[in-house]
Amino acid sequence: MRQRVLSGMRPTGALHLGHYHGALKNWVKLQQDYDCFYFVADWHALTTHYEDRSIIEKTVYDMVIDWIAAGVDPERATIFIQSRLPEHAELFTLLAMGTPLSWLERMPTYKDQIEKLKDKDLATYGFLGYPLLQAADILIYKAAFVPVGEDQAPHVEITREVARRFNHLYGRAFDHDQQVADALVRLGKDDARYVEKQRKAYGQDGAPEVLARGESVVRKAQAAGAIDSDTAELLLGHLKGAGKSVLTEPGVLLTETSKLPGLDGDKMSKSRGNAIDMREEPAMVTQKVRRMPTDPQRVRRTDIGDPDRCPVWKFHQVYSDEPTREWAAHGCRTAGIGCLDCKQPVIDAILKEQQPWRERAEAYLTNPKQVHWIVEMGTERARTVARQTMKDVREAMGLNY
Ligand code: TRP
Ligand code: SF4
Repeated sequence: MRQRVLSGMRPTGALHLGHYHGALKNWVKLQQDYDCFYFVADWHALTTHYEDRSIIEKTVYDMVIDWIAAGVDPERATIFIQSRLPEHAELFTLLAMGTPLSWLERMPTYKDQIEKLKDKDLATYGFLGYPLLQAADILIYKAAFVPVGEDQAPHVEITREVARRFNHLYGRAFDHDQQVADALVRLGKDDARYVEKQRKAYGQDGAPEVLARGESVVRKAQAAGAIDSDTAELLLGHLKGAGKSVLTEPGVLLTETSKLPGLDGDKMSKSRGNAIDMREEPAMVTQKVRRMPTDPQRVRRTDIGDPDRCPVWKFHQVYSDEPTREWAAHGCRTAGIGCLDCKQPVIDAILKEQQPWRERAEAYLTNPKQVHWIVEMGTERARTVARQTMKDVREAMGLNY
C-alpha cells in the first residue's frame, strides 16, 4: 500500500505563481508515489482572518479549482475541506489536554507572525493553538509524510512530539504489565528468560541483531501455536520497549521547489501587491512583467547591468532554460539587450505555463457542481479514515463508554 501524504492550504485568496512553485507543483508530483490527502485549511485561515467571513467563503472552491487546474488529480488525490470534518476539532481538544503551553509558545511562527501582522490582534487562544490544530490534522490521517516549506517544519516537529507523548501516555492498556507477564508464561520458562535477556540488552545498546534474536523466538512460539498473533504483537512491543503506537509520527518532506519571488523581488504575496495569479489574464501578465523593476543601476539602455541585482533574473532562474539564461545574463552585463527584450522570454514562459491551467479551470468554472461533487467525495473518503482514528484514540484514552 502506498504511504499517505497529507498537506493543507489556507483559503485566503486566489492562488498565485508563488503558491504554484512553492507548494502546488510538488503536490502534483507526489501523487505519483503517495496516497495524497490535500485539504482546504479553512479553520486555519480563521486563526488570522477571524474577522473576515467573506474571503474564506469566496476562496474555498476557487482554490480547489486552482489545485485541479495545476494538475492535482481528483481521481488519485483525496481533496476535502477541514471544517466538514469535526473529527479534527475533537482530536485537537483531546490533544490540548496534555500539551504543555511552552511547546506552543516557543513555535517560531508564533512570535514572528504576531510581529509581522501588527494590524491584527493575534493575542488569541486560537492563534496560539494553531500548530496543535495542525498536529491534529496530520495525526488524524496517520500521515507518513507532510510536504511543507521550511517555515512550517517546526509544526511537523511538534506533531511528532505530540504523537510520541500520546503514545507514551495512552499506548499501553491499563493492565499492560499483567498481560505481558501472562504472555511470558505462555512462552515457557526458557524462551521467556531468553526474551527478557534480549529485551534488556536491546534496551541498553539498541543492537538490531539482539532484537532480531528475541523476535525469532516469539515468532517460533507463534508458529508452534503456543501463542496467538495478538500475544505475539504484545511481546514484540514489549521486546522493543514500546507500547502500541496509536498515533503515527510523521516525517517532513521539505519542498525543494524553486522559490519564485514577487514582481519586486520580495516574497510573492497578494497583500504586497507583487503577485501574478495562477489564472491571471494574459494581458495583465504581460503588463505586470513589463513593469517589473530591474537592476536599479541600469537606468539607460546603454548602461550595463548585473542580473544579481534584478528580480527579473530570479524569474529567468525558474522559467528559462540554460541557453536563454546565458543570453540574458550576457546581454545584461554587456548592455547587448534591453530590459524589455530580457523580459519577453519570461512573459512567454509564464503564458505557456498558464495555458493548460486556464483550460482545465474553465470546465469547472462553468460547472461548479462538479467541484462540489469532487470535494464531497473526498470529504467522505477522509471521514472514513478520521473516524477510525478517533475510535482508536477514544479507546486508548479510556473514552469508549
Ligand atoms: N499551517 C499551514 C499553512 O499555514 C496549513 C496547514 C494546516 C497544513 N494544516 C496542515 C499543512 C497540515 C500541512 C499539514 O500553510
Ligand atoms: Fe534585469 Fe534583464 Fe534588465 Fe539585466 S537585462 S537588468 S537581468 S531585466
